[in-house]
Amino acid sequence: MEKLDTYLSLCTQYYDLDKPDAPDDAFAFYLQYADRIRGKVLEPMCGSGRFLIPIMELGYDIEGFDASQFMLEALYKKCKNKKIKPKVWQGFVQDLDKNSIYNLAFIPSGSLNLITNLNQLKRSFKNIHHSLVSGGTFVIELITLAEAERQETNRWWSSMQTIPDGRKIVISSMNLPLVNNIGQSVCRYELVENNQIVKTEVETYELQFYKVDEIESLLTEAGFSNIRTIKAFEHGKMPDASDDVIVYECSKLTENL
Ligand SMILES: C[S@@+](CC[C@H](N)C(=O)[O-])C[C@H]1O[C@@H](n2cnc3c(N)ncnc32)[C@H](O)[C@@H]1O
Repeated sequence: MEKLDTYLSLCTQYYDLDKPDAPDDAFAFYLQYADRIRGKVLEPMCGSGRFLIPIMELGYDIEGFDASQFMLEALYKKCKNKKIKPKVWQGFVQDLDKNSIYNLAFIPSGSLNLITNLNQLKRSFKNIHHSLVSGGTFVIELITLAEAERQETNRWWSSMQTIPDGRKIVISSMNLPLVNNIGQSVCRYELVENNQIVKTEVETYELQFYKVDEIESLLTEAGFSNIRTIKAFEHGKMPDASDDVIVYECSKLTENL
């Protein structure tokens, strides 16, 4: 099976300490879709569940999957503590194989920017289209090129989080200049115990930044209709070219045979 070489153990622990909850505005935004649609929901790339778990706790029928074993282990642990059973599995969005099940699929937090291979993105869109029932809705949030161009490059920055047992995780990261609208960042995670580094993990992330018309034509090619861009996270407002992220909403009108 294909393996993800990012979102490993220290990254997952750091992620959950740094971003334990979904941002209020994004959470309320996606919840409105779940509320309006009142059917089966899919969250591809659900990570450790900061959207999926509270949505499930509110009584919605939500399933999710993620390629990282570590992010899923963190999700299972949170659910075990809450005594709830999540419907999640390990898998890649480009390999999703479900037919006409979900009324809504949503991918928050710019996760789809992590797919830098155009063929994989095309397959991912087609698979999500296939997984939706006729009339189903797909919502994604993508980090814009404008935001990527604002990021400082070639400079290390670092930050630290403390685990409840007192050990620390230090992240040191550097963004490299964009090449073909792909940004690479090198991240080193160090676990510090009694002032000693006892474990190090290095991960290189690649993010592809797409233009609005590129995404619109890829969604159309995958079979989606009614494609609209929305200002994050304000229903009914148009995005500006300079926004950090843009939300795309589209729907599956008829079965693709
Ligand atoms: C930025 S995190 C966001 C997770 C979650 N949506 C959140 O907001 O907390 C991106 C997630 O995408 C997952 N991921 C990356 N590439 C993937 C792929 N091709 N298929 C499925 N999951 C993937 C990673 O393992 C990680 O958990």
